[in-house]
Amino acid sequence: MKTRITELFGIQHPIIQGGMHYVGFAEMAAAVSNAGGLGLITGLTQRSPELLAKEIARCREMTNKPFGVNLTFLPSVNTPDYPGYVKAIIDGGVKAVETAGNNPQKWLPALKEAGVKVIHKCTSVRHALKAEAIGCDAVSVDGFECGGHPGEDDVPNFILLPRAAEELKIPFVASGGMADGRSLVAALALGADGMNMGTRFIATKEAPVHQNVKDAIVAASELDTRLVMRPLRNTERVLKNAAVDRLLEKERTLGAALTFEDIAAEVAGVYPRIMKEGEMDLGAWSCGMVAGLIHDVPTVKELIDRIMAEAHSIISQRLARFDAA
Ligand SMILES: Cc1cc2nc3c(=O)[nH]c(=O)nc-3n(C[C@H](O)[C@H](O)[C@H](O)COP(=O)(O)O)c2cc1C
Repeated sequence: MKTRITELFGIQHPIIQGGMHYVGFAEMAAAVSNAGGLGLITGLTQRSPELLAKEIARCREMTNKPFGVNLTFLPSVNTPDYPGYVKAIIDGGVKAVETAGNNPQKWLPALKEAGVKVIHKCTSVRHALKAEAIGCDAVSVDGFECGGHPGEDDVPNFILLPRAAEELKIPFVASGGMADGRSLVAALALGADGMNMGTRFIATKEAPVHQNVKDAIVAASELDTRLVMRPLRNTERVLKNAAVDRLLEKERTLGAALTFEDIAAEVAGVYPRIMKEGEMDLGAWSCGMVAGLIHDVPTVKELIDRIMAEAHSIISQRLARFDAA
């Protein structure tokens, strides 16, 4: 399938794997790229630019297809060495970057000069327009249903995507709640040129996470996520578990007095033990409502082939039938 997104990134299918902390290692990115999508290494999961450079080199050994790196600019206690990460990306010959969080303007000149295509992930039309204005090549429009940080506007994709289509000139992908061929066709119908998936890619054979994480996603329904850190205006959609119950109880009792320190035990530095060791109740971890649509753990290639076959069949059969009637 050819869209402005497949053309922009030189990929076969208009499917991107969003950056995911402690999931987006070389194994994940390479599996998605080898299956014809765009896989992304999560930059900040590598604790230094040197380690990111090694991860990029490792990914290159696993695929000769295009892959990218996610660079997340979120409020954090110690500011990461962003210039170092950008240099590792450029020196590593990576040609696609997904930025997320704060405005990436500062890093665009260096990336563009090196021929890197930048897709900025945002949760509102105004941020998408800003990304377009500062020169991003594309945007990933992340609806309220998404796993991770949905922002504070709470606009779901059935509204957000057509609104983005009304305003944007650059191509965009639909992100949040995407799982299958139906999602892809709907995204295209609403004006997107492809889709970005997070949670769905965790429940795959190649995702380098503990089996408990995959099992938890398959077991979860669309009712099992919760929004945490709302009072700090750093909202995150996570899977409900014992730690999240504790965290929400603190939010309820402390109200406006809540600080990050109050909930640090549930959110700070918990990913390695959850994703690698499978300690599912240790803390809050991002997960989308789309868990309700995830019922199996296929290989990434099986997943992507299935999505594309289903999308083609919906377009040529189901939708064509309505068109003919
Ligand atoms: C476990 C997990 C970790 C994530 N970590 C990041 C991250 O570090 N940076 C980022 O930009 N997005 C992150 N995301 C968001 C995804 O890239 C993607 O935008 C989101 O998952 C899309 O929604 P979906 O889960 O409904 O597909 C994460 C998502 C999940 C599920």
